[in-house]
Amino acid sequence: MCARQAESQTGAPVPMAARLASGQIGLIAFARKAGKNIFSVIPEATLHQTYLRGPANIHYVCDPDTIMELLVGKGRHFPKSQFTRNVIGAAVGKGMILAEGEEWKEQRRRYAPLFAARNLPVLSAHFGETGQDMARAMAARPGEIDVADAAQEATLTNISRVMFSGTETVDKRDVRNALREFTDFISYMSLFDLMGLPKWVPRLKWLKGKAPVRNVRALGRNVIESRRAKRHAEPEDFLDLMIEALEEDREELDTTVDNLLTFVAAGYETSANTLAWGLYLLALYPAVQDDLRREVTAACPDGPVRFETLAAMPRVQAHVRETLRLYPAGALFARDATEDTTIGAVTFRRGDVIMFPVYALHRNTRLWEAPECYRADRFIGTTFPRGQFIPFGDGPRICIGAQYAETEIMVLMASLLRELEFRPSAHPVPEPVLTFTMRPGGPMILTAAPLKAPARQASSAA
Ligand code: HEM
Repeated sequence: MCARQAESQTGAPVPMAARLASGQIGLIAFARKAGKNIFSVIPEATLHQTYLRGPANIHYVCDPDTIMELLVGKGRHFPKSQFTRNVIGAAVGKGMILAEGEEWKEQRRRYAPLFAARNLPVLSAHFGETGQDMARAMAARPGEIDVADAAQEATLTNISRVMFSGTETVDKRDVRNALREFTDFISYMSLFDLMGLPKWVPRLKWLKGKAPVRNVRALGRNVIESRRAKRHAEPEDFLDLMIEALEEDREELDTTVDNLLTFVAAGYETSANTLAWGLYLLALYPAVQDDLRREVTAACPDGPVRFETLAAMPRVQAHVRETLRLYPAGALFARDATEDTTIGAVTFRRGDVIMFPVYALHRNTRLWEAPECYRADRFIGTTFPRGQFIPFGDGPRICIGAQYAETEIMVLMASLLRELEFRPSAHPVPEPVLTFTMRPGGPMILTAAPLKAPARQASSAA
């Protein structure tokens, strides 16, 4: 069901919000409801308080200082929660997102250089091509479009371009289908996983997931081996960079495949949904959209949007950050306390689950001015206390793909804005839903109209 679009006191529309739990929820109801939408079990009070005790051994933390102490200070060694492990373990194996201790350290050290800023120009050349193709396809079929679906197609294309290309034995469409089936599998969350039932209880998710995981693993092995056999002289994509890095610092092929799948699992829906929510916000605020379009056309009037031009788009960047504040794809992440730890007035006991409800933190009324309102300017010339804005987490386990994601989203957004105008449609706006990541709970239908060439020129001249 979709809530109606609220109106603020000034008459400006208020962006769509998630529906959180209005009262305290017991453990059984928690497990029953959370399988469908985790937002339905996160207490609404997390929007107004900075600490809350949940059912059983769950803590919700929205205080920036406590968050810092947990992610960067005393609690930085706390492992990813068992609950996260149950949900995505079957898909990403021993990849970096779930690895712990020395194993994680080694992987992080090995892969960090791949995501370094110096590699972004090479990767974003592919994103620019995808952006241009996407804009052309939308311009050729103006009218209503599901931007959530289009955005997923774009980030999937990017992944297949930078991570899964170069094998003649597999058709591009088969790559995309295998990736889509794999990511659909991840988005489906089993109720049993949340209830933490013993491993021998059969999970529907495992049965459903066997074929997609097997297929995508075979694909991963295939592209790695094909590229190893046929290297480019200079790195042209992520796969080249990865193979180059592994030349000197070898790991088991299975671990490399785990990591390739980890990057797909962690980086596909997250970026796509940020782009979709970002377009929705621009449709809601046409004056902001015009403003951003002027910035983009001035910085990069034609050709694929390049990495080097992004520095001249501070307003687009602020818009992406405000989108990540209002709709953080990683809307909740968690740790298990492995020892009793007291931070301020709260003691986390060994075995307790510590939830970081990023969505609620980013809209907390004690921390933000007009948190429910869209104000991208809050990200221009201002810094916030560390721990208050954490779309990519923080500390040693901060998202390794943060810059990759911001670059990808900016390039795609700029490519679309230059060619098209987005407006709301008569269709209802879907509510945000949270399973593995936060996404629109249904199609996000906007209208897209190609800009006339003279309008584009006027826009760039202004
Ligand atoms: C808008 C896009 C994205 C968002 C909002 C996002 C968010 C996050 C968050 C919140 C975490 C930390 C989770 C925790 O501490 O438990 C994380 C970790 C991670 N992300 Fe992202 N992410 C995004 C894109 C990407 C991309 C594009 C990639 C790779 C291509 C990626 C790869 C990873 C990996 C490997 C980790 C685990 C790092 C570690 O544990 O050392 N993410 N992400």
